[in-house]
Amino acid sequence: MSKKIKWGVIGCGGIAARRTIPEFKQMVTNAELVSVMDLDLQRAKEVAAQFDVPHFCATEAELLAQDLQAVYIATPPNVHCRQTVQAAQAGKHILCEKPIAITVDEVDQMEAACAKAGVKFMLAWCMRQNVLNKKMRELVQAGALGKLVMGRAQLTCWYPPIPGAWRQDVAISHGGAMLDMGTHCLDLLEWLMDTTIVEVTGFTDLLVHKYATRIEDTSTILARFRNGAHGIIDNYFNVPDAATQNALELFGTKGSIIARGTIGQDPTGEMFSILQAQETGYDANQVRDTEANRQDYKLEPIGIYGQMITLFTDCILQDRQPPESLANGRHSVQVVNAIYQAARERRVVEVGA
Ligand SMILES: NC(=O)c1ccc[n+]([C@@H]2O[C@H](COP(=O)([O-])OP(=O)(O)OC[C@H]3O[C@@H](n4cnc5c(N)ncnc54)[C@H](O)[C@@H]3O)[C@@H](O)[C@H]2O)c1
Repeated sequence: MSKKIKWGVIGCGGIAARRTIPEFKQMVTNAELVSVMDLDLQRAKEVAAQFDVPHFCATEAELLAQDLQAVYIATPPNVHCRQTVQAAQAGKHILCEKPIAITVDEVDQMEAACAKAGVKFMLAWCMRQNVLNKKMRELVQAGALGKLVMGRAQLTCWYPPIPGAWRQDVAISHGGAMLDMGTHCLDLLEWLMDTTIVEVTGFTDLLVHKYATRIEDTSTILARFRNGAHGIIDNYFNVPDAATQNALELFGTKGSIIARGTIGQDPTGEMFSILQAQETGYDANQVRDTEANRQDYKLEPIGIYGQMITLFTDCILQDRQPPESLANGRHSVQVVNAIYQAARERRVVEVGA
């Protein structure tokens, strides 16, 4: 039997218990889950019992002393840096949830610790794993859209005030809908179009909810990519779940690829393209025959969190660097900082300036 990498989980809350651990247990064949840790020991105990994990504990030190090679960090973002550094110092490879950290300086500390320990780091950009999003990237890379003109990514949910919720405590979350959900969208557009965001502007507001501290529930961002294309990234905590579209749309000189519901925790969604082989002549009537070139894509959904565990485990086993790297995470923090600065100062801000 081939070797399995042993994993531990730090933070057994919402995403870990709802998606990552269940998909780990159901789908992953190259790794095994041997320990779970949560500040709340009872929580760790329940998750261990539910998913048949042999060991549970309430401290990083106890988890990191276990016989395991990799950890999944799924705690609030204000402790990602500290826990990454601790895990690296213990010689563990790290899969860390988004947002990677709060500041660029934190990312630098994480990078230094991983480099010194010679361990791998992967950022949990799970939306890249949706099979339809992968197909969209494949089409873009094959040149199907011609010159890229615009990409739009939307992720929204209904998120009312909840006492004690860390996302609503700005001292822990450091941002609202844009940081929590927009980071997925920003990364996805860059990855799909194989480019990076160089300039941003936009609005972030608190329109609806009475949160305990001030975080935005409404974020509408404009971006310019290095390849010249524009981006629209819209994230709201105040639109009913059933009404949202979670739209992902790319437009280019040869057509468009349109998806609904492929940004989200479910591995499902719908996608179609309207593509033409050549750029066409001018038609003053602007006739829109949307059926002639329409193609629908039907692919079997595969759990995106389970795929992430498999992918990172393969990187460890084959000693290769995951694409979702610390450099990618540092850039993400710079984009977030530029967006909040742009919103605050009501202007266009260069990323990393
Ligand atoms: N990739 C995705 O699709 C996705 C979805 C949701 C959340 N997330 C990210 O995952 C992380 C966790 O979010 P969540 O929604 O699961 O939060 P959550 O509050 O539901 O769970 C967090 C868990 O971490 C525990 N915890 C808090 N501080 C800790 C510490 N210092 N050490 C150990 N455990 C600690 C809490 O007790 C809780 O059980 C966040 O970074 C979030 O942005 C990612």
